[in-house]
Amino acid sequence: MMVEITINGKKVQVEEGTTILEAARANGVAIPTLCYHELLEPYGACRLCLVEVVKNGYRTLTTSCNYPITVPIEVETDTEKVRSSRKMVLELLLSRCDTSPKLNQLAAEYGIEKSPFELHYDDCILCGLCERVCREIVGANAITFAQRGTDRVVVPPFGEEAEACIGCGACAYVCPTNAIQIQENGEEKIIDRWSRVLKLRTCKECGMEFAPDFQLRFIQKKYDLPEDFFDLCRDCRAMKK
Ligand code: SF4
Ligand code: FES
Repeated sequence: MMVEITINGKKVQVEEGTTILEAARANGVAIPTLCYHELLEPYGACRLCLVEVVKNGYRTLTTSCNYPITVPIEVETDTEKVRSSRKMVLELLLSRCDTSPKLNQLAAEYGIEKSPFELHYDDCILCGLCERVCREIVGANAITFAQRGTDRVVVPPFGEEAEACIGCGACAYVCPTNAIQIQENGEEKIIDRWSRVLKLRTCKECGMEFAPDFQLRFIQKKYDLPEDFFDLCRDCRAMKK
């Protein structure tokens, strides 16, 4: 069923259940986000996507990434209140992580040179993108949220080596603050943040180490591929074709 809403004074039709963020972006209206990814369940953690909604005569400030549209509403994405609230969100996030290029770029767009809050440095802003991509897309469930309040962290279960981590790097790819660094030393792939060290598999043809053995076994099992499917590195496989 279609629902008619107004975004910044313009009437648009959207499918019932569409989020405000999706509706806005589909109609060329930009809303900044940090914890949102279109392939993942919205989580509503960063609060940067705030907008004002007028419903039944009441005006409220709400996150747009996890607000499904079910009835006609008016949405305003660029009011004074929206801008000052997003600015405050960015100042708080900057006080946690002032080294992230992405955060600094967003801060500059909101006229922030330096956070007015005291710096409590942590490179993770708890957006949860790494945990969701690992669970929802990769299916490895290697990391999880732990503890509450100011002690909240994303960690491997029991804070030990993330034994279910396959070393795919999806978490590092989606992380907005570059908090997850991946290194390779020729024999191993190392993800310090998850205390994970993965041995690389050796190509049966050229003898080069090419991908984490654990990751290849995970994919082979998941897609029921033949045992020898990943015996060769990409180059040797291409030569055989
Ligand atoms: S490590 Fe990165 S992706 Fe994961 S919660 Fe922290 S900021 Fe987000
Ligand atoms: S993008 Fe909506 S709360 Fe983070």
